[in-house]
Amino acid sequence: MKKRKLGGEFTYAGVIIFFITIALIIQIAVLIYDYIIQRTTDKALIAVLMLGVIAILAVLCTVVDVIRRRITIDRPVKKILTATERIAKGDFSVRLDIQSPYGRYSHYDVIMENINVLAAELGKSEVLKTDFIANVSHELKTPLSVLQNYAALLQDSGLDEETRQRYAKTLSRAAKRLSDLITNILKLNKLENQEIKPEFERFSLTEQLAQAALAFEEVIENKNLVLDCDLDDIQIVSAPSLLEIVWNNLLSNAIKFTEAGDIIGLSLKVKGGAAVVTVSDSGCGISKETGAHIFEKFYQGDTSHSGEGNGLGLPLVKKVIDILGGEISVASEVGKGSAFTIVLKGNVYA
Ligand SMILES: Nc1ncnc2c1ncn2[C@@H]1O[C@H](COP(=O)(O)OP(=O)(O)O)[C@@H](O)[C@H]1O
Ligand SMILES: [Mg+2]
Repeated sequence: MKKRKLGGEFTYAGVIIFFITIALIIQIAVLIYDYIIQRTTDKALIAVLMLGVIAILAVLCTVVDVIRRRITIDRPVKKILTATERIAKGDFSVRLDIQSPYGRYSHYDVIMENINVLAAELGKSEVLKTDFIANVSHELKTPLSVLQNYAALLQDSGLDEETRQRYAKTLSRAAKRLSDLITNILKLNKLENQEIKPEFERFSLTEQLAQAALAFEEVIENKNLVLDCDLDDIQIVSAPSLLEIVWNNLLSNAIKFTEAGDIIGLSLKVKGGAAVVTVSDSGCGISKETGAHIFEKFYQGDTSHSGEGNGLGLPLVKKVIDILGGEISVASEVGKGSAFTIVLKGNVYA
């Protein structure tokens, strides 16, 4: 937020005006007293007249002070109260009009400006929340309707064994999709709320990457892909359970967006004291337009694959890398393939 000149409660001009006012009032009282004693010697009358004069001056001062308070305190406080009440009721469209003559801000102006920022931020997260709910509901709908339809179909007792098997497989795929979606949402939610604390330890990154690739061996073989591993022997201090999420998602994407005969590359090198992991593929590649959104929740660029996955893989990857203080970059060319590079700095033992 901008740094600005704060006026308000204490200003030298205010102190001087206050001083002059008090001096003026005392001066007026003295002059009136002088005027009275020149005209009468009746002590009781002087006392009564002076009492009256003091009372009138006091009332005058009080009125001036009340007006000053109304303008400088009550008005902004009332504005702030109304705004906070509206925010408390869920109206985030509140924006306070800040009037600071001569660029001098009072503390109330700063509070009002902060309220404006707060309301704007709350409004933004409200939009994110509703978008998120809409996305989740949408993602839940497809597998749920598959479950419903195929469960109904399976109830037909006249089904032959092959059809029954096919329906059961479709059912279990839909159930897996649902469970993957929920697992990913929960994981992302926990990472965002900092409920998952990274547990750092020294481990072999080489070993972990090899294990991750091995887990996909069958899928790679079935799809007739070629896996090209080039892993240097490197240990790092990081959070292995979190990094596992990264490798699994990047490898599964590489496999998903490639065709038979394509190459999946996995490399680990040390560059400038950092561990650099690259997961590449010679698949369909990512266009510039798609590339701008791939780290957004629920974004799926390639609609022909949208039956698989839920667009939460890369947001999860990005979150983990952010938490671990690493860097992620993507290089891709449509029709030629993509390469995701992760740089993990510090505590690298080659
Ligand atoms: N290796 C890749 N090749 C081509 N496109 C990719 C690759 N990895 C990610 N993408 C694009 O990024 C999008 C988001 O990826 P992700 O968050 O993992 O979601 P999902 O895999 O569920 O579609 C994908 O839908 C796809 O368009
Ligand atoms: Mg994915």
